Amino acid sequence: MLVPAARRAAVRGKLLAWWDAGHRALPWRFPQDGADPYRVWLAEVMLQQTQVAVVVPYYRRFVARFPTLRALARGREEEVLALWSGLGYYARGRRLHAAAREALRRHGTLPASREALLALPGFGAYTAGAVASIAFAIPAPCVDGNVARVLSRLFLVEGAPAAKATRERLWALDAELVPRRRPGDFNQALIELGATVCGKPEPRCARCPLASLCAARRAGRERAVPPAAVRRAPTRIEVACAVIDRGGSLLLARRPPDGLFGGTWELPSTPVEVGEEPRAALERALDERLGLRVAAEDAVASVDRVLTHRMLRLTAFRCRLRASRRDARLRWIRDGELDALPLSTAMRRLLDACRSRFRTAGSARPSGGARSPGGVSTARSLRDQLLFD
Ligand code: ADE
Repeated sequence: MLVPAARRAAVRGKLLAWWDAGHRALPWRFPQDGADPYRVWLAEVMLQQTQVAVVVPYYRRFVARFPTLRALARGREEEVLALWSGLGYYARGRRLHAAAREALRRHGTLPASREALLALPGFGAYTAGAVASIAFAIPAPCVDGNVARVLSRLFLVEGAPAAKATRERLWALDAELVPRRRPGDFNQALIELGATVCGKPEPRCARCPLASLCAARRAGRERAVPPAAVRRAPTRIEVACAVIDRGGSLLLARRPPDGLFGGTWELPSTPVEVGEEPRAALERALDERLGLRVAAEDAVASVDRVLTHRMLRLTAFRCRLRASRRDARLRWIRDGELDALPLSTAMRRLLDACRSRFRTAGSARPSGGARSPGGVSTARSLRDQLLFD
């Protein structure tokens, strides 16, 4: 036993009393209805690496379109990813969809067992523990970044939470603490405490129900524990993108399922190596990867986007299509169809930038032959704005 029984009882009692006294009314918390396992799961997946305020509107849109596990399982992956667009880490959305299908096939529902959950796509220890405890009242531990911070301080665990030994210790502590009664409330309360009180780097100890039990506070180390993660410098990535227009439709390509923005649609693109000429890189890569022979011309628009570990610069080049072949990864898309497609935020911004370039600079249209004198009106569609030739 890592935690003496009396301390365990004190932590549980104080934390649950604090939770009962009030917590954030988030849309996936349905105290009046009891927990819906599917919605609990959806929220937990969305909340990984994403803040609550960002998740809320995505969550609402998603459950409006896919209110049940069955509805999600029957949905098309592309629509799932379209609803995920902008939330990032698209593999989460793809695995959620795959797991819904798998759960329905194997169990007819989301299974009420930590082991059975762990066998589904995308379920790791955290998600399985969170769903098992919150949706099914199974006393399973779940340690996310918030919980790791609270437990590191409460038990004065000095190591970096990402280090294997520290991680194992925090999970073992949590496993001992989770009560048989109300495990879901207990886990949510720990998450809530980390999110709203036991902050990074500033803990608000005056408001903390566990302050009198906190080992880090007693040692005066509550600001130093846990140590801040060492962030490596983000990698700069230059991406060249092709604007290929045919009668007002744009040619888009589907990204490979794995990797950055996996499964989303984009202007056909390539990363540009240092020292490479972007147009030449684009012409070569599109030919090699997609069988698209293009002539890259002038730059149309550019956007910067900072991700957790990457700084992206996307530049769109107008391209003339010389030859193409049929390929399921390619599709001609009209302006009105863009909203229904999964697009990364970076790509959506680039497309918007292309639009506004043509909107505000009618005289600077990429090729001669502006079709309407006086430039391009804001009401015009992408189709019209991108009619180059
Ligand atoms: N972060 C992870 N899970 C959460 C939850 N259920 N509520 C609020 N924030 C969370």
